Amino acid sequence: MHWGLANRLSRIIKPTTGRTVMLAVDHGYFLGPTRKLEVPGETIRPLIPYADALMLTRGVLRTSVDATADLPIVLRVSGGTSIIGPSLADEVITTAFEDAIRLNVSAVALSIFVGTEHERQTLLSLSELVNEGQRYGIPVLAVTAVGKELGKRDARFLSLCCRIAAELGASFVKTYYCEDFEKVVEGCPVPVVIAGGPKLDTFKDTLQLAHDAISRGAVGVDMGRNIWQSDHPIAAIRAVRAVVHENSPVDEAYDLFEQAKSAEGQT
Ligand code: R5P
Repeated sequence: MHWGLANRLSRIIKPTTGRTVMLAVDHGYFLGPTRKLEVPGETIRPLIPYADALMLTRGVLRTSVDATADLPIVLRVSGGTSIIGPSLADEVITTAFEDAIRLNVSAVALSIFVGTEHERQTLLSLSELVNEGQRYGIPVLAVTAVGKELGKRDARFLSLCCRIAAELGASFVKTYYCEDFEKVVEGCPVPVVIAGGPKLDTFKDTLQLAHDAISRGAVGVDMGRNIWQSDHPIAAIRAVRAVVHENSPVDEAYDLFEQAKSAEGQT
């Protein structure tokens, strides 16, 4: 790996722990004004000090994040679909690589839709991004999306997606947690982070998810709704950090969540 690429990746996956807590706030690119992300700047601003990286589109970056913010940006550069359109899988690259460079990003991200009619198109987009990324020393994060038509999130399917992403040159991969998750990690020669998915019933479930993923080989999370749809988002991200960076047991991290809620006067 050349120096620029390794340096940018190390801004996201922290060398001190080998782990990362990325904050995903890119949901609007196909979901519109998602609950609690209606005014992105208000949601994002208080969480910046606790995130290792921010994953978002250029539109939200430009309008809603201060240019002096000291945290690495993972820029979503794929899209072109919506939740009410015919196929979420029909994504293309939406952002010129030049623009990613101009925005001083630490990585670019796109979704791949393996097993859909748009598989080839999205995999070729990944290859194109990797070619550009190699030219300029910018890592590519491949997101193994499951479109609304693909409910399947088992280890066999996710291993296939992650391995293909790594073979095509992604520097790291984002996927979903599943049973036998260690098999997904084993078969993927680049670091794996997990998405949080829709808000879980309890915050303990979120901590358990992060804990299970880390203990089975994930290097971290790229989490959105389970943090910022919480009534206590700062306490939530702090507790997730404890699990990811300090290997805190779930109960201990939950105690930290409760303490942080009280300390913030958010109870
Ligand atoms: C996935 O493709 C989206 O772009 C989100 O970044 C991702 O789902 C992570 O957010 P959440 O934890 O809310 O699922």
